[in-house]
Amino acid sequence: MKITVINGTEKKGVTYRLKELFLEHLRDSAEITEFYLPKDCPSFCVGCTTCFLTDEHKCRDREYVEKIEKALLEADLLVFTSPTYVFHATGAMKAMLDHFGYRWMPHRPAKEMFGKRAVVITQALGSGEKSAAKDIKDSLSWWGVSDIRVITFKLMSDIDWNKIPEKKRAAFAGRLYKEADRLKKIDYTKPARTSLITKAKFYAVRMMQSNLGKSDPEYTDYKYWKNNGWIDKARPWKKN
Ligand SMILES: Cc1cc2nc3c(=O)[nH]c(=O)nc-3n(C[C@H](O)[C@H](O)[C@H](O)COP(=O)(O)O)c2cc1C
Repeated sequence: MKITVINGTEKKGVTYRLKELFLEHLRDSAEITEFYLPKDCPSFCVGCTTCFLTDEHKCRDREYVEKIEKALLEADLLVFTSPTYVFHATGAMKAMLDHFGYRWMPHRPAKEMFGKRAVVITQALGSGEKSAAKDIKDSLSWWGVSDIRVITFKLMSDIDWNKIPEKKRAAFAGRLYKEADRLKKIDYTKPARTSLITKAKFYAVRMMQSNLGKSDPEYTDYKYWKNNGWIDKARPWKKN
């Protein structure tokens, strides 16, 4: 089993400790690739829209985006972590996700994403951990991932891991071990079931792409949909 982890912070703090606990029960059976932000995707999207309109390979940050994308596409399980910064995921996480705007369903989603499983782990000192998780979940679901588990934590104590009461840390670990154990039992040769919501999004975009193709058959996104056979009978969640 292959796991790709995107860490929304480079800090070896609470978020890091939670992620390590989650991976503890998976390490012996998984090949794990990790990225730390902002180090592994250090620049902001400048909004040139070249990826949307022309070719993602021409992005000025392609060297970073490509490595992350390859690891995401090869993984069976995607893990995203972030502390809550002002009620949202870290700016570094948002900056990385912006680089994958072209992979949103209305543009050029990767076929592989439709069968993947993902876990989002966020924590906050007091509040905002759910909206931080949503920032990440929004991208994952619009990339086509249906099976997304969200695990959120409220520290309600110190932000130094070692000063968090032992009982609370044990409770956090219990929740993470439980989810890791569930994920360990899955047969990853079988793709995750594509949800009705994902299919509804797909069909809505398909209609939009069909109309766009009528007015401009050379439109980048339309050509991608057409070449994948999605305007016709092929579906990204089916073996074609
Ligand atoms: C810039 C910044 C903004 C934060 N905003 C929030 C917030 O909105 N709500 C909250 O409960 N905690 C907030 N925190 C606390 C973090 O969510 C987190 O609990 C703390 O940074 C410890 O996690 P870490 O060791 O993984 O960095 C913030 C921390 C920072 C540095």
